[in-house]
Amino acid sequence: MARFEPPSVADRLWRFGRALATDPVETLRYVPEEISRRREHPVTYDVDTAWEEHLHGLIGAPWPCPEVPNAAELWETVARELQQCGLAFGRHTYGGYSDADESLARAVRCVVLHRRPEVVVETGVARGVISRYILEALEQNGRGHLWSIDLPHPFRPDLHPETGTAVPARNRRAWSYVEGSSRRRLPRLGRQLGRVDVFVHDSLHTMRNTRFEMDRIGRILAPNGVMFIDDISTHQGFALWTRAATDITTLVCPSADGEGLFGVVCANGA
Ligand SMILES: C[S@@+](CC[C@H](N)C(=O)[O-])C[C@H]1O[C@@H](n2cnc3c(N)ncnc32)[C@H](O)[C@@H]1O
Repeated sequence: MARFEPPSVADRLWRFGRALATDPVETLRYVPEEISRRREHPVTYDVDTAWEEHLHGLIGAPWPCPEVPNAAELWETVARELQQCGLAFGRHTYGGYSDADESLARAVRCVVLHRRPEVVVETGVARGVISRYILEALEQNGRGHLWSIDLPHPFRPDLHPETGTAVPARNRRAWSYVEGSSRRRLPRLGRQLGRVDVFVHDSLHTMRNTRFEMDRIGRILAPNGVMFIDDISTHQGFALWTRAATDITTLVCPSADGEGLFGVVCANGA
């Protein structure tokens, strides 16, 4: 696993200044996020160790699922392809951000395959592991489109060429990559789409940003629609949002490496 060395204070200040000069609008949006981080604290959940079976039950899909071995094969393929590009794969490989967790990627793929959605939205692309999983599943279904909102790492321009490397050209037909922060891009995209069947939050994992994205998508989540929210144990965002919501069923799932948790929200049918 790649080791992530947090930058020194001087380095952080220098990177912030450089980002401010390059893209003041997006860079200044980090200030309220950093301020809100001070109110964050870790949250403990009742983790569902049989989450995968329960997720399949929620979406009316069979369990054991015949797609699980295919997801493992795709994981190996993505790891090999990234390695061939000279890229490490896993936690903290993208300037402190991590590539997708294997369990989350498999869960998203299964929901896309079983639910056959028309409209899929994700936030946070990095190398595009989840994007690849979704796009391959949409292709297998022969329907549906993915919109991915992503702000390439604002403080590490050297990483920008890595954006979407896990998605080969042949998988990009049903893909719209929307560059910018979710704060800037999600409201308009939401209005334009009017309805979302499957949503994946894997962008900036602050309480403020997570709740913002869940609020925006929650308004237009289709009946029986599914939201995946990564990294829910480091702040209160998922807990607060789900506590206030009605007509939903939630699952709390362990990441494959046991280091984190992701949450699932299923909108109850109409
Ligand atoms: C955890 S990584 C995403 C991993 C990816 N989903 C995958 O499958 O490997 C987070 C990504 O979100 C981007 N990001 C950070 N802040 C963002 C924001 N406010 N809006 C959208 N994307 C953001 C990061 O630059 C990075 O590309």
